[in-house]
Amino acid sequence: MSTLVTGIAELVTNDPASGDGPLGLLTAAAVVVEGGRVAWTGPAVDAPAADDRLDVAGRAVVPGFVDSHAHLVFGGERSAEFAARMRGERYDGGGIASTVAATRAASDDVLRARLAALVAEMRAQGTTTVEIKSGYGLTVADEVRALRLAGEFTAETTFLGAHVVPAEHADRRAEYVALVTGEMLTACAPHARWVDVFCEPASPHAFDAEESRAVLTAGRDAGLGLRVHGNQLGHGPGVQLAVELGAASVDHCTFLSDADVEALAGSDTVATLLPGVEFSTRSPYPDARRLLDAGVDVALATDCNPGTCFSSSVPFCVALAVREMAMTPGEALRAATLGGARALRRDDVGHLAVGARADLVVLDAPNHLHLAYRPGVPLASPLL
Ligand code: NIG
Ligand code: FE
Repeated sequence: MSTLVTGIAELVTNDPASGDGPLGLLTAAAVVVEGGRVAWTGPAVDAPAADDRLDVAGRAVVPGFVDSHAHLVFGGERSAEFAARMRGERYDGGGIASTVAATRAASDDVLRARLAALVAEMRAQGTTTVEIKSGYGLTVADEVRALRLAGEFTAETTFLGAHVVPAEHADRRAEYVALVTGEMLTACAPHARWVDVFCEPASPHAFDAEESRAVLTAGRDAGLGLRVHGNQLGHGPGVQLAVELGAASVDHCTFLSDADVEALAGSDTVATLLPGVEFSTRSPYPDARRLLDAGVDVALATDCNPGTCFSSSVPFCVALAVREMAMTPGEALRAATLGGARALRRDDVGHLAVGARADLVVLDAPNHLHLAYRPGVPLASPLL
């Protein structure tokens, strides 16, 4: 069964071989989808016959967003903490403890319902691939539970037992790192594709370079791919560690030295920027131009979580990236699609070249510029 999607005013493929520039842009275009994959793209006048026909009536079609960083398994919410920050309080990760308590106290059904609602909310806004982290359980049983639940919704599951040192281990940090790299990892690895660590010596709750290295190397030895939360609250070792160990992505990258940028530029590690976090913590935005101009692979993601950014909207992040981080609308869209796919080391999503997963997203607009031009307007939705 094949479907011809026609009436596409502008098609973004992210495949330079399919159209103009890095976005692989085509106007007056068509796409043929067959068996859940892209079978053909090109000018509408050249479109082959298909079993079925879908006319998008002069709207734009882009690849589905790949949200490569989200924390969606949690209980409770922290709106009061957000309001306090808007009054001037600083974020240091301390609020994570209250989400850990609420998550441990929540039933599977409650966590699953919240997770399902957030994933549906993302999909309704054009996100077709999402990574989901554990990290609000922080006991063996609670981390396994979070990953099992996440695995019901995505293949991109990430073990984040090293999110913070939980209260019951506050004066026994080394013991907690031993748990995360030992028994907890053994129990969680079968349910995870990735391991992540909140490497942030500036926070008393997160992990320093040595602890982070232990978490990442143990995860790697257990067969997991590596991701790092780094350089969010201040300059630190996260980026260098991520590059040295070959992590797929280092996320936040708000405070970078010249050496950090240089290391990223010479590596396969993607710099994932999360501007919703800077918005919601009233922090300076990362310098995206400096990274792009140095040739670093950049991704954009939401970091949807109850603490630092309770938004599931990739279009909101695209608008922030354009308005606050001087990315062009095209760079921002590419970072939120192909960038996210690279950050997850996936080649079947994030683009619409022939053979890609047919994650077509339609914009209620004639071109992709509208994603940033019309902030806060729900333009993007999945087509199929
Ligand atoms: O990516 N920085 C660490 N972890 C999350 C926030 C978690 C929370 O505050 O609940 C982040 O920003
Ligand atoms: Fe995060």
